[in-house]
Amino acid sequence: MKFILLSTLLCTLFISGSHKIDYTQWREYLGGPDRNHYSTLTQINPDNVHKLKVAWTYSAPDSGQMQMSPIIVDGVLYGVTAAVQAFALDAATGRELWRFGDTLNAWHSTSRGVAYWEHGDDRRILFTRGPDLWALDAQTGKPVETFGNAGHVDLHDGLPEIARNKFIISNTPGTIFENLIVMPLRLSEGADAAPGDIRAFDVVTGKLVWTFHTIPYPSEGGYETWDNKEAYLNTEIGAANNWAGMAVDREAGVLFVPTGSASPDFYGGRRKGANLYANCLLALDARTGKKIWHYQFTRHDIWDRDLPAPPNLLRVKRGDRTIDAVAQITKQGYVFVFDRKTGQPLFDIEDRAAPPSSLTGEQAWPNQPVPALPKPFARQAHELTENDISPYADNRDELLQTFRRSDKRWHAPPNLEGVFLLPGYDGGAEWGGAGADPEEGILYVNANEMAWIMQMEPAAGKMAAGTTPGEAIYLNYCASCHKTDRSGNAQSGFPSLLKIHRRGKGFVNKMIRTGKGMMPGFPQISETEKAALVAFLYGEEKKEIGAVVTTLENKSSTPYEHTGYHKFLDSEGLPGIAPPWGTLSAIDLNTGAYRWRVTLGDTETLRQKGHAPTGCENYGGPVITSGGLLFIAATKDGKFRAFDKKTGVLLWETTLPAAAFATPATYQVNGKQYIAVACGGEKLGTAKGNQVVAFALE
Ligand code: HEC
Repeated sequence: MKFILLSTLLCTLFISGSHKIDYTQWREYLGGPDRNHYSTLTQINPDNVHKLKVAWTYSAPDSGQMQMSPIIVDGVLYGVTAAVQAFALDAATGRELWRFGDTLNAWHSTSRGVAYWEHGDDRRILFTRGPDLWALDAQTGKPVETFGNAGHVDLHDGLPEIARNKFIISNTPGTIFENLIVMPLRLSEGADAAPGDIRAFDVVTGKLVWTFHTIPYPSEGGYETWDNKEAYLNTEIGAANNWAGMAVDREAGVLFVPTGSASPDFYGGRRKGANLYANCLLALDARTGKKIWHYQFTRHDIWDRDLPAPPNLLRVKRGDRTIDAVAQITKQGYVFVFDRKTGQPLFDIEDRAAPPSSLTGEQAWPNQPVPALPKPFARQAHELTENDISPYADNRDELLQTFRRSDKRWHAPPNLEGVFLLPGYDGGAEWGGAGADPEEGILYVNANEMAWIMQMEPAAGKMAAGTTPGEAIYLNYCASCHKTDRSGNAQSGFPSLLKIHRRGKGFVNKMIRTGKGMMPGFPQISETEKAALVAFLYGEEKKEIGAVVTTLENKSSTPYEHTGYHKFLDSEGLPGIAPPWGTLSAIDLNTGAYRWRVTLGDTETLRQKGHAPTGCENYGGPVITSGGLLFIAATKDGKFRAFDKKTGVLLWETTLPAAAFATPATYQVNGKQYIAVACGGEKLGTAKGNQVVAFALE
């Protein structure tokens, strides 16, 4: 009875427009609408954290990478499995209450979680699978028949005609504002990307309510920043999408949307100009989608410097003033802090000169912004010297040669010789996002320090005379990741396709259509093309299988192509630069000064030889508590750790059943505080897992 009264009261508060964030709850992605991963629960604290024990585990029916960060509403934990089945668990026991999905017809794309909406008794879970946004009854897991088309909306709907057959999914939960859900989109990053419109749908009906064009139409602001006057309807320019999720200030009615680069990623000769609103933080009126202000972090992006995470909404002090601020982390390792209302930067931003491109037809932007403070939270290529080659590398000379040869200038544009990209393609900061203490104005960010070699090659000449149709399709769509000779680059996460016969053709066909993990899907490849491609992959292609379909002829739209994703690694597969390879930083956004920085994670083989912790690659963010703790999994080494948030001292660690590339969630049920994390492994060559593990004090 008491429980019902309390939840009714909370509901009423929620609906009657009290927008104060309740930090005892974890009802939304990354904790709350401010995406601070922050909780005021204090039962688990620095004095007792070493007594944490596994309270329950949930084993999902499918396994593999889970990037999912759960939400908890009224004692029910909602999440998504590796194969994108949504589920509800009793948050105190881990007992499954319902599951929506189908293990046999598994989706490969990862999901970062779900969104929750309620109005009276109508309680919904909004989640995406492939291109579909589903509304499920939160109590039963059944589709809400009155939403869209029998419970779902195809996210292609409402996009312009040019998007029709293109790869569109959404793997980050939408952001709820009143009766709207505003949707992130994941698109191709090549010339075949759909336009990355930001769209709000009615949570009740599924109807499209507003659209913001990130590639502006002629009458819209930002249109003048594209030399190509038809960029918005060009089928070989696209993206500028938000894939990382958003934050919302419900009190002000303002949505904060970070966007990614325009496509294609690494050659911008067909999209000269600054390319607004790619690589921007957009402040939009949440009710109408109208722009209030924007800031662009990478002008004419040719490095894939998508904004990787939602911004943090917090408060900072300037003298006697307390300012509602918004902080955006970047793959480059910067934090930019703005006044939420005006978009004024709270630390000076310098426009620093950047080098020109040596590629024909390309025009790199002459300068790029750098905040005076805080200093970057990850090492920068231009600061490295030969002393920064890994002391553990057996092939030091080889690494040195590559290091000397490659372009290490700040914002060196893609070239034919190779650019030393540090922070790497995934950042710096990545999709896990930063945590923050919103009252104290402290930001907590984990980062990768992985260098990559970025190199281009002329597109012409790749398809020699006699190239068969299937091979041509392969070279066109697949070789950038799986290599021209299909050997892939296993260490960088791109599997070889040379022995693909061991997989059924059904599996391969599905991979091509839907993609998986870091591989986009290719729904635009027709059935005829796919038959030729699969025949080629299986070594069964006959010359007479049919002419290359016409779309392919005008396909290689860029004179240069990216040669693929190559990590700078030593002969053991460890990072070629000296540690730390993963870090965790606490940054005071009141002053721009660092409170502390520590190494995050370790390398087992080096630890056994007695070396100090190296840090390691990590994906997934931290959880911050007012009780004084910072929890983080994320590391390739498969550990779950708790740090003292004031000092960065490690207080506790445990080994998870599989590495957790996901952000945990903390919540309280029946007076007991839990912290739960999804352990799917698989990424970075780690073993697969299928569990969600919740910890609590005994
Ligand atoms: C942007 C990079 C990228 C592109 C382009 C790409 N792939 Fe992949 N592919 C990957 C990655 C990464 C994986 C591993 C996915 C995972 O398991 O999480 C993969 C996995 C696969 C697999 C499964 C391999 C196995 O043994 O499990 C197949 C088959 C495949 N890709 C085929 C293709 C084909 C065919 C194309 C072109 C139409 C293509 N890929 C284009 C990145 C890419």
